[in-house]
Amino acid sequence: AKEDILESLYDQFTVDDQCLFKITQTFLSEISDGLSSYGRPMAMIPTFVKGVPDGSETGTFLALDLGGTNLRVCEVTLLGDKTFSLRQQKYKVSEALKTGEVTTLFDYLADSVDAFLTDTPSGGHDSHVSHAEEDSPYVPLALTFSFPVEQSALDSGVLLTWTKGFSAKNAIGKDVVKLLQDAFDRKHIHVKCVALVNDTVGALLSRAYTSGGCILGAIFGTGTNGAYVEEVSKITKLGQNPVAAGGEMIVNTEWGAFNNSRSALPTTPYDNKLDRESINPRFQAFEKFISGMYLGEIARNVILSLIDAAPKPVLFGGRSSALLNKQWGLDSAVLSEIEEAWEGLGRFSAPEQGSPEAQKEEKLRRIQGVLAQRLELSPPDISLEDADIVRKVCNVLGTRAARMSGTAVAAILVHTGRARLWDHGEQSSAGLKDEGKRIGVGVDGSLVEFYPNFQTKLRASLRALVGPEVESRVDIGMAKDGSGVGAALCALVAQRQNQANH
Ligand code: BG6
Ligand code: GLC
Repeated sequence: AKEDILESLYDQFTVDDQCLFKITQTFLSEISDGLSSYGRPMAMIPTFVKGVPDGSETGTFLALDLGGTNLRVCEVTLLGDKTFSLRQQKYKVSEALKTGEVTTLFDYLADSVDAFLTDTPSGGHDSHVSHAEEDSPYVPLALTFSFPVEQSALDSGVLLTWTKGFSAKNAIGKDVVKLLQDAFDRKHIHVKCVALVNDTVGALLSRAYTSGGCILGAIFGTGTNGAYVEEVSKITKLGQNPVAAGGEMIVNTEWGAFNNSRSALPTTPYDNKLDRESINPRFQAFEKFISGMYLGEIARNVILSLIDAAPKPVLFGGRSSALLNKQWGLDSAVLSEIEEAWEGLGRFSAPEQGSPEAQKEEKLRRIQGVLAQRLELSPPDISLEDADIVRKVCNVLGTRAARMSGTAVAAILVHTGRARLWDHGEQSSAGLKDEGKRIGVGVDGSLVEFYPNFQTKLRASLRALVGPEVESRVDIGMAKDGSGVGAALCALVAQRQNQANH
């Protein structure tokens, strides 16, 4: 019966505390693996960024950001008192560019920077983009490139694999800084790429800059990933590399590729279908459960299965729409909107009227409206009960994503000695790193910024894993404009190193 179908569906997507524990334990072992050997799925990439800023840094830099929802070019001015000013321009990256020749993509990046420098007037501050070296005709630029890149220095690194729907040809194994520099040079654009950062590193650096301390930068957006501050002595795969001499270094975990074997991930047939039909089957396993690129597609598969349910359809009287039948047709933002309609958030914040039943009906009517508009279904096909079922589906998927995200944060806290996995007994922080202190985490991305209750649910999962004492000391803060500010901070480090070498 309908109730049994739905109950079994919701059950499949529910991750209990025990499952969260198992995931976190597996996380800890894959973190260790990645730190000791190259070529592991979870790459644990040394970034060559040693130390984090304290907010006193100054300078004006250009930054180019590829890999989130938009391509962005920014000019960032670090004002040195934990604040910054920024002017930016967003550009769209078409599917053709994402999947065509890599030189065409990088030509487009170079053209966007050129357009930014030519078209947009400089900001209100006095300092213009500073030059990498005195008398250099080149404007220094830092590239935020949000894909797995094995770095060999602050300003070089080769692409390991594409993620998030990109598949531009002839890029894997190439140095992305060189690809960009060649594009600038081909076009005689006087810009020099001096630093390369992942968006998670940007989030970590910018949060450290604005808040004075941060140990983890995490992105929950189109993709998911985290970068944290590691003791160099623990990155044993660096071997005799001179940078391994001591101190700390930021490591880009690439946790989106955690557990590609899926030994610990609570995989459902819907996840398998999504993976099988994706352009990178068996890769980015963790990311496919969590991030904005995939949530809509999982929801679409679930909704279709309910439309097709036997012996009788569970949704929309068995009717679908062209959009629902199209792979990737359902944007994750729709899930967010449905949850907002139910929670009375955003554009749905006007209070409902009348009895509790009347209020519930009003909320469901709002969801009916969203479904008609965004799923392009015919309104007579959407009952109030359908609206209620779809909002529960969105809720279980969003909750699963947020709870699984908590395991990544917990794993970093445990790995760095700031927490222990909690057995629900008496909690003691004795002997833990940063005992009794606040622990800074910078986050960015469309899910954590816009998905209703994402952070609350992530925190609940974290609490179950590391206990309330540690969880209450974790400050999770938005690293707004993280990529721009983080990239600028990296350009600054590169500039200093450059000057020191002359
Ligand atoms: C942005 C950062 O704010 O967040 C990007 O500038 C990052 O670098 C992005 O990739 C992640 O969010 P989304 O939702 O755009 O993927
Ligand atoms: C993907 C990328 C990773 C990036 C993350 C968030 O997982 O591989 O480099 O940080 O998305 O944008």
